[in-house]
Amino acid sequence: MSDDPNIAPRVIKNDPWYGTYARRAEGMRASEIRALFAVANRPEVVSLAGGMPYLGRMPFDELSEQLGAMLREKGTVAWQYGSAQGDPHLREDVLPIMELEGIKDVQPDDVVIVNGSQSGLDLITRIMCDPGDVVLAEAPNYVGALGVFQSFQVDVVNVAMDGDGLIPQALEETIKDQLAKGRKIKMLYTVPNFHNPAGATMSVERRPQIIEIARRYHVLIVEDNPYGLLGFDGRTYPALRSMDSEGIVYLSSFSKIIAPGMRVAWMVAPAGIRQKLVLANESAILCPSNMSQMTITTYLDNFDWKAQINDYRGMYRERCDAMDQALKEFLPYCSWLKPKGGFYIWLKIPEGLNAKEMLPRAITAKVAYVSGTAFYDDGQGADHMRLSFCYPTPDRIREGVRRLSTVIDNELDTVRLFEPGSADGRE
Ligand SMILES: Cc1ncc(COP(=O)(O)O)c(C=O)c1O
Repeated sequence: MSDDPNIAPRVIKNDPWYGTYARRAEGMRASEIRALFAVANRPEVVSLAGGMPYLGRMPFDELSEQLGAMLREKGTVAWQYGSAQGDPHLREDVLPIMELEGIKDVQPDDVVIVNGSQSGLDLITRIMCDPGDVVLAEAPNYVGALGVFQSFQVDVVNVAMDGDGLIPQALEETIKDQLAKGRKIKMLYTVPNFHNPAGATMSVERRPQIIEIARRYHVLIVEDNPYGLLGFDGRTYPALRSMDSEGIVYLSSFSKIIAPGMRVAWMVAPAGIRQKLVLANESAILCPSNMSQMTITTYLDNFDWKAQINDYRGMYRERCDAMDQALKEFLPYCSWLKPKGGFYIWLKIPEGLNAKEMLPRAITAKVAYVSGTAFYDDGQGADHMRLSFCYPTPDRIREGVRRLSTVIDNELDTVRLFEPGSADGRE
């Protein structure tokens, strides 16, 4: 990617502050996804890169009337500072949403509202981890979480996953191995439903096993669940938090089920941790935006949000099917797991190809994806790419995959040229 000036992160030359930054800032890198945004969003490019929800079906006309009324009645509250823990009305409103995934024992006081799950990940890492501590995580891993862990100088140790999510035996072996090395394990970070980027969902059988292992070794589980209500067949899975209230910090967000622009998400945590989260939220931002929270409560209180989520599920299923079909048609020699929900397909490309090196050529062919390397912090992942089906229409998805296939085909021809006789999977 760095050989394309359009998408390489800008280097600040002669920075007078070079050498004075905190060590934690030295570890920060531009996310491969952010670096891509500018080019990937050009209209001529089919972007299979970003994880932006499609918002074209939101009832904006009616919503703007409701929001106008809300401002007329409660403008002085909406535009005022609020509570560091979040608006009590919203903390009440999230309870029935969590019930859909089996979480029934939570009170509004157990909930903390945060500026998007991203901020929640920052807060929990801030209060739990010192530099050099270990966070266990699925590999590949959500790129935004990796960014947070890097900024706190935490060591991310990969735990193997497969189509059924985290592998319990691998978790226990990794814990034993890290403890034998004298490492301090602070948390297990997991995205159990419709994983970003792997698309996998943790099986119902594995969930209590993972909890039992974490409990036995006193490892806190951070359950990040932005996609749980976006199962294509309408099925939801029991949240880990529904099986354990003391060992789990639960995070969910309105970003994918309503819209990300408000930056509103919520956390549920055991009392001691929750208290520290509120203090950390206060020191980071004083309080989440009242206006954003009241926009969400206005929506939740006046619209049939369950019907809207159902509608989105159907739309994303159609787009996932379109991508799966196009891959079968144009790239049958690649492999992938068709997800049961969420936004992403994790595509394995033929041996010998490098998704990161190929990206500038894909952009030239007017299609964008995210290289698998973005989802590891140790250089792995060049044999995969993440394809998002959430935003483009089915026709655009088909065209994007067709363009991608021309890039991959050309790449394979080049590999063959230099290594005659090498198998490339197309025979
Ligand atoms: C697994 C995961 N966690 C967290 C986030 C961030 O969500 P939010 O918009 O609530 O910050 C995302 C966004 O893509 C995600 O995929």
